[in-house]
Amino acid sequence: MCGIIGYLGKNEKKEILLDGLQELEYRGYDSAGIAIIENKQLKNFKAVGRLKNLREKTKDYESVGFGVSIGHTRWATHGKPTELNAHPHMGAYSFVVHNGIIENYQELKKELQTDGVKFLSQTDTETIVHLFEKNHNINNNPWQSFQDTIAKLDGAYATLLITEADEETIYFAKNGSPMLIGFNESDVYFASSDTPIIGKATEVYYLEDGEFGYAKDGKVFLFDANGEKTFSKQALATDKAMAQKDGYRFFMEKEIYEQSQVMNDTMMGRVLEDKIDFEELDKNLFDNISNIKICACGTSYHSALTASYLFERIAKIPCQVEIASEFRYKEPLLREDTLFITISQSGETADTLEALKMAKRAGLRSLSICNVDNSSIVRESDAAVLTRAGIEKGVASTKAFATQTMVLWMLAIYVAQAKKTIDSELLKEELNAMRQTPKSLLINDSIHPKMTRLSKRYLHGHGFFFIGRDLFFPLALEGALKLKEISYLHAEGYPSGEMKHGPIALADAELFTVALMPKSLHYEKIKSNVEELCARDATVLAISPEPFDLADDYVKTTYDSHPMLEFFEMMVVTQLLALEISVRLGNDVDMPRNLAKSVTVE
Ligand code: M6R
Repeated sequence: MCGIIGYLGKNEKKEILLDGLQELEYRGYDSAGIAIIENKQLKNFKAVGRLKNLREKTKDYESVGFGVSIGHTRWATHGKPTELNAHPHMGAYSFVVHNGIIENYQELKKELQTDGVKFLSQTDTETIVHLFEKNHNINNNPWQSFQDTIAKLDGAYATLLITEADEETIYFAKNGSPMLIGFNESDVYFASSDTPIIGKATEVYYLEDGEFGYAKDGKVFLFDANGEKTFSKQALATDKAMAQKDGYRFFMEKEIYEQSQVMNDTMMGRVLEDKIDFEELDKNLFDNISNIKICACGTSYHSALTASYLFERIAKIPCQVEIASEFRYKEPLLREDTLFITISQSGETADTLEALKMAKRAGLRSLSICNVDNSSIVRESDAAVLTRAGIEKGVASTKAFATQTMVLWMLAIYVAQAKKTIDSELLKEELNAMRQTPKSLLINDSIHPKMTRLSKRYLHGHGFFFIGRDLFFPLALEGALKLKEISYLHAEGYPSGEMKHGPIALADAELFTVALMPKSLHYEKIKSNVEELCARDATVLAISPEPFDLADDYVKTTYDSHPMLEFFEMMVVTQLLALEISVRLGNDVDMPRNLAKSVTVE
């Protein structure tokens, strides 16, 4: 995920920016850059890849004396990780850095291009700096120009702008993406999170959405829609490790809580008013395709399984899912009318990559769904859709699964549009449900404490079964995988209708069953499967909008008529359950034993 740093003061700016960006490395990035104005001179450096490349480029540059400066680490969303796409983005005499997504950038870009502006990058961010200069060329007033610029932006942003037209000022604005201002005597810092300024600033102000302003002469002038406002600073935390986790105990916990936000990012510019659009996909990708095959491993395999229901149900296209390590050696029969989809958080999973290469050798068209641009799987594929989850540090995948599932759901609709298998009524319903997804991923005040309380009853026993039907069967598999990865307890996911064909033999009071019982999909069927288990004295934790008297424990979820909304809410419940059981067992939540985040060996 992108990171921002800014500094106004008389200390060496290059080092402050580079050190600050170093502190943001943990968030993941694929390019970085800085811009500094000092003695009326604008300097700018950018580099693709690790920060050491930027350090190398700037090694002969020093910036002493008063000046203003901004820096950025970029995690590619719009456009490839190249130097031209790296921030800060430049106009004729100004530079900008930005986190978030400007939703209306295409419209703004078109207007600017009509005025003769030449764009150098493929990013949404570049529109900000050109818009600012367009305004400034008219009114010759930088502050007014900045206000006029942000008034035109739709979407999420945290942005800093410096300009030779006012070389002692940093302009800032925040809406939907985090940004804070740090203070130490007459030095002013900006950052997208605490870590880059810990040890430098002593006090901090966390900007609210809709706030903007400028820093000049060591002072900050803050505004919102009602005009100028006063603000109170608070002491800045001193613990960097804690700050990286944004105050959460574990990265996995932080990532569970981030899911609502990253889902917005995943949908941005794709879930439109009346359709799904993927501007990164060739419109002909699905021409002559009558079959979809998906290959993946682990959690990504579970999102693939979920997708198989959606592709067949909504897009009416046959879809088979295979575990990549099995696919490689089964001597599969591959037909050229098959679109071969790989799903991978890291983009480096050896089995998935090899499966993709096999499919390509067989002449299949390929599409990858991945969280890391420029990864091996993305580079190997004919087309790619990025999940935009931001870096995932917890070995147990959470937000990657959520965003993969979302991309696949969108893709199912996209195919349905292309193949005309969806009518306007259903399309409207699906798009409405998608827009509700970030809400269904919000964690309310009661659910986490409830899972913490419940977890103490599930630390022993001879095993867990997570059961569900239909879309909730892959979710059951995923719930079980999450639990076993970080608790080391035995857990299996099962289709609830299959229990009677064998596994029910295990049922007794020490068999824990987590039953996913959505109201919107086959409720009565799964209810009777769970009753069969209750009758054999299994201990049942029911997750459902509908109270279930026979259950030993019950977690109430929201009733929603769309199953995917129930899906995402239940997903969060199972993630929190696994997390809290692992915490109680004293395990390393973020780095469970025997596991690696990226599995690059067969
Ligand atoms: O990076 P990938 O999505 O290709 O990784 C696949 C699996 O290794 C991964 O999902 C693994 O199962 C996770 N630890 C699940 O939490």
